[in-house]
Amino acid sequence: MELFKTYKLWPIEPVKGRGCHVWDKEGTEYLDLYGGHAVISIGHCHPTYVEMMQQQLTRLGFYSNAVENSLQVELAHRLGEQCGYPGHSLFLCNSGAEANENAFKAASFHTGRKKILAIGKAFHGRTSGAVAATDNPAIQSAFNKTPNVTFTPLNDIEALKNNLATGEFAALIMEGIQGVAGIYEPSTAFWKAAREACDATGTLLIADEIQSGYGRSGRFFAHQYAGVEADIISVAKGMGNGFPIGAILISDKIEARYGMLGTTFGGNHLACTAAIAVLKVMKEEKLVENAAAVGQYLMDGLKGNKAIKELRGKGLMIGIELGENWLDLRDRLLFEKHIFTGGAGKNVIRLLPPLMISRKDADAFLEAFNTLTL
Ligand SMILES: Cc1ncc(COP(=O)(O)O)c(C=O)c1O
Repeated sequence: MELFKTYKLWPIEPVKGRGCHVWDKEGTEYLDLYGGHAVISIGHCHPTYVEMMQQQLTRLGFYSNAVENSLQVELAHRLGEQCGYPGHSLFLCNSGAEANENAFKAASFHTGRKKILAIGKAFHGRTSGAVAATDNPAIQSAFNKTPNVTFTPLNDIEALKNNLATGEFAALIMEGIQGVAGIYEPSTAFWKAAREACDATGTLLIADEIQSGYGRSGRFFAHQYAGVEADIISVAKGMGNGFPIGAILISDKIEARYGMLGTTFGGNHLACTAAIAVLKVMKEEKLVENAAAVGQYLMDGLKGNKAIKELRGKGLMIGIELGENWLDLRDRLLFEKHIFTGGAGKNVIRLLPPLMISRKDADAFLEAFNTLTL
C-alpha cells in the first residue's frame, strides 16, 4: 500500500530533536522555527516530558472515559490556574478540529440555535463543522457546505454587530490571532464589541486559541491582550508538545448533561501526562514570558529590513510579509541555512518556534534572514 498523497512534502526527514533543533537521517542539524506547525511548545524531547511519559507508559497508557481518571482532574486544575480561567470546566478531545466541533455542539445545545458566525479568512480545521466555519471553499466538499455558517469581515465592527443583531447565531468563533490567513489580529475594539454584542444577543463567544494559545502570543491566550473573556476556548497544538490532545474550556453558564459530549480516546492517561508535563515545564521555565521577550527580540531584529513589506503578530507567532519571491526565500532558508519556517496567506513567512527558543537561536535566524535578503 502507498500513502494517500494529500501532503506536499519537504524532502527532509527529521529523526532526532532537542529543544529548538532537529536532525535528519544524514545528521544535518536544522533550527526549527516552525515547531512542527506550532505544536512543539516546550521543545523537542524535553527531559521532564520524556521521563513523565516513560513512567506513565509503564503504569497505564489508556483506560476509557467510563472510569475516574485523576490525571484529567489534575490537568483541569493546573490549566485553569495557569491560563487565567479557573472557573471554566474542561472537556478533553484529540485535536484542534475536534475541539471546535465540540465547541459548536456545546453552543448549539446551550442556545438551541443552529447557526455559527465566523470571521472572513478564518481557519478552524478540516472536519465537517470546523471546515464549514473555515473561509476556504477549496477545502470544503459538497457535504461540508452549509447555510448554517455566515462569515463577517475581521475588524469590521458594524458588520459584526449587524450580523449578531439577528439573534440567530449560537456562537461567534474567532481566532486569537488568525494564523493560516497570514497572521492577522482582531483589534481590541473588535474583541470588546464582539463580547458586548454576544452578551446582548445571547450568543456565545468562542475563542479559537488552537494556534495562538498556550503562551505562543506572549500571554497564555492572545485574546487576553484585549481584556475580554470568552465563553468557550478551544486549544490543541502546543498543549501536548506533539502528543495528540485538544480541549475546550467551558464557562459555567453552559450546563453539562450526561452524554452531551464524548470521545473514546480524549483525555487518556498518556495524553493527560503529556499536557501536565507541558504545563509544569511552561511554569518552571517561564515560557510564556520567554515567548514575549524573544518574540519582541525577533521583531526588533527584523524591523528595518527593506525586503519586508509588513511585520505582524505577537510573541512567537510572527508573520513576515514579503514580495513575490517569498517561497524561494523560504526554500533558501531551509536548504542553504538549514532553518525550518512556515508559510501563510499568499506571501507570508510564519515563525512558530518552540516557546523555549533562546536569543542565540533567534540571532542565528536573524543573521541568516538578513544575509539572504539584504
Ligand atoms: C486556528 C486553528 N484552528 C483549528 C486548527 C485545526 O487543528 P487540527 O489540525 O489539530 O485539527 C488549526 C490548525 O492549524 C488552527 O490553526
